[in-house]
Amino acid sequence: MPIDSQIITILKTLKDPLSQQDIVNAGMVQGLHVTSAGKVSFVLEIRTEYMQNGMKLKEKAESLVKTIPGVTDIQIALTAERKPKAHNPSKAGLPDVHHILVVASGKGGVGKSTTAINLACALKTMGLKVGILDADIYGPSLPRLVGINQKPTSDDGKTMTPIMAHGLKCMSMGFMVAEKTPAIWRGPMIQSAFQQMLRQTNWGELDVLVIDLPPGTGDVHLSLVQTVLISGALIVSTPQDLALIDARKGLEMFLKVEVPVLGFVENMSYFLCPHCEERSEIFEHGGVHKEAQELGVPLLAEIPLHMAIRETSEKGTPIVFANPDSPETRIYQKLAEKLWTSLLSRQSKSLHPVK
Ligand SMILES: Nc1ncnc2c1ncn2[C@@H]1O[C@H](COP(=O)(O)OP(=O)(O)OP(=O)(O)O)[C@@H](O)[C@H]1O
Ligand SMILES: [Mg+2]
Repeated sequence: MPIDSQIITILKTLKDPLSQQDIVNAGMVQGLHVTSAGKVSFVLEIRTEYMQNGMKLKEKAESLVKTIPGVTDIQIALTAERKPKAHNPSKAGLPDVHHILVVASGKGGVGKSTTAINLACALKTMGLKVGILDADIYGPSLPRLVGINQKPTSDDGKTMTPIMAHGLKCMSMGFMVAEKTPAIWRGPMIQSAFQQMLRQTNWGELDVLVIDLPPGTGDVHLSLVQTVLISGALIVSTPQDLALIDARKGLEMFLKVEVPVLGFVENMSYFLCPHCEERSEIFEHGGVHKEAQELGVPLLAEIPLHMAIRETSEKGTPIVFANPDSPETRIYQKLAEKLWTSLLSRQSKSLHPVK
């Protein structure tokens, strides 16, 4: 194989920390040139907020390329990304909401809403100010999960006051229409209902707003995530192959709109018997772990299929508050801690870009 092809192959083993693509496919390696005497030069383009990691990446690239027979010298020029990113100009955050975290899944019924509400509760137990927005317009589930169904009021006639439940500020289409009413919405209507719930709710100051996205990765989802300045996404999947294929689609969708995927959660990972607590690997547990490794996305939690998780949700007090000492609660708490750390470290990187 010619030296330049070998260099490309070896550089593909390094990952772009943001898109999680390999650095070649992420377009970070440019102007590769190899002289007949084996002198190699190329430019390594790093996103501004990752400049600190750029040095490490450069060193790794150097030591890898050095191992290729025939390479006599390497010059890698590190540059900050020049081209402006194709950000949607209307992408906007919320004034006093520090982080927006979306919980998504490619496929329906994998336990996204259950994960989102327990995660919100766990973030709350860390002393944070937390809100949760149920973005599922067709099938809202938040009123049931928090055991409250009342219409939001408005103090000023313009903004809605969120419903308080378990210390969380909550908003859902389910508070406004009866759960059984089939909502016949078309794309643009969903988009405007979502925008209104997001922007016309008086969230006040929040450390984190958790958004429970509707299942899927279609155009509607794309436009939802394109218009909001999202700090990070969490993708929930079950271990079965079909759910995994959809989880991968979810990851691709977020990469397209440049939202960092902070990790995967494997839900219904294994079965915990409510009687004897014996563990059974019903769905060949570990599928998400393998997928996550392949995609270079961290697997942040493996949540068992446990009767208590469903029962507590149905009774309107999520397990994190209903059984605070249970092992399942601990799993949600660890997930919350990892996500919060990840949000903070990303924030500090973007606050202190290396010039
Ligand atoms: N780890 C779990 N253990 C036991 N039951 C669970 C678990 N996770 C979710 N469930 C149950 O599975 C069902 C589906 O969960 P949930 O509504 O959270 O999924 P979803 O992905 O939000 O679905 P949808 O796509 O309809 O929005 C619910 O009855 C829920 O209580
Ligand atoms: Mg749901």
